[in-house]
Amino acid sequence: MEFSSKLLDNHTALITGASSGIGKATAIALAQVGSSLALVSRNTEKLKATLEACKKVIPKESKAKILTFQLNMEDQEEMKKVVEEIDKEFNGIDILINSAGNGLMGDFMKNTLSEINEAITVNLVSQIALTHLVLPKIVESKKEKRAVIFLSSVAGRHAFPFVSVYASTKHGISGFAEALFGNIQDTGVKVCAVNPGFVRTPMVVP
Ligand SMILES: NC(=O)c1ccc[n+]([C@@H]2O[C@H](COP(=O)([O-])OP(=O)(O)OC[C@H]3O[C@@H](n4cnc5c(N)ncnc54)[C@H](OP(=O)(O)O)[C@@H]3O)[C@@H](O)[C@H]2O)c1
Repeated sequence: MEFSSKLLDNHTALITGASSGIGKATAIALAQVGSSLALVSRNTEKLKATLEACKKVIPKESKAKILTFQLNMEDQEEMKKVVEEIDKEFNGIDILINSAGNGLMGDFMKNTLSEINEAITVNLVSQIALTHLVLPKIVESKKEKRAVIFLSSVAGRHAFPFVSVYASTKHGISGFAEALFGNIQDTGVKVCAVNPGFVRTPMVVP
């Protein structure tokens, strides 16, 4: 399917997990249709690589701005500062794509409590917290195309053995997205949880 290179002109998307996999691919796809981008993750070198890949595909006439922001999703104080910085730099946020994710797998009895807490924080708590910070700005923006998108998983619909914690976080985020959709219908902001099956990224093929 081909989209106009002006589809997201004058729109700004905040993408978490932009340093790798689905988040990186999404950033490149949105750069192709003229979106300004706030690329967020912990690894600044990998974020720079995403930035360079995006620059290569920006339409010639586009005035899109693309910047990187370092953030550990586990740090809510830092998250507040980064969101304010992004809002100031781009003069608003229109689209939030929650792609940061922790792929904790294996025998539940062998997962440590620290691993479990990290997975729940990154896949669920931090995404709800980030949405809480960003959503008022999206509602305020009044742009034509506004959305909050979550990378859930097929494990957010069906529970498979050896992904018990991961499946619980993805069921949680799918439920959150569905409820939020009803909550904010009258604002015109779309909410969507995507439930991919296996996608060949560093999460599943290190
Ligand atoms: N690949 C699949 O088969 C598949 C299937 C269904 C759903 N999904 C979901 O799709 C999303 C993207 O996964 P992917 O396959 O693209 O994986 P990936 O290539 O491993 O990317 C994961 C991203 O999450 C970021 N991240 C992880 N922990 C973080 C933290 N504490 N703070 C900030 N950023 C953090 C990583 O960035 P840094 O390391 O730079 O921080 C990286 O950019 C995830 O939510 C995943 O659960 C994937």
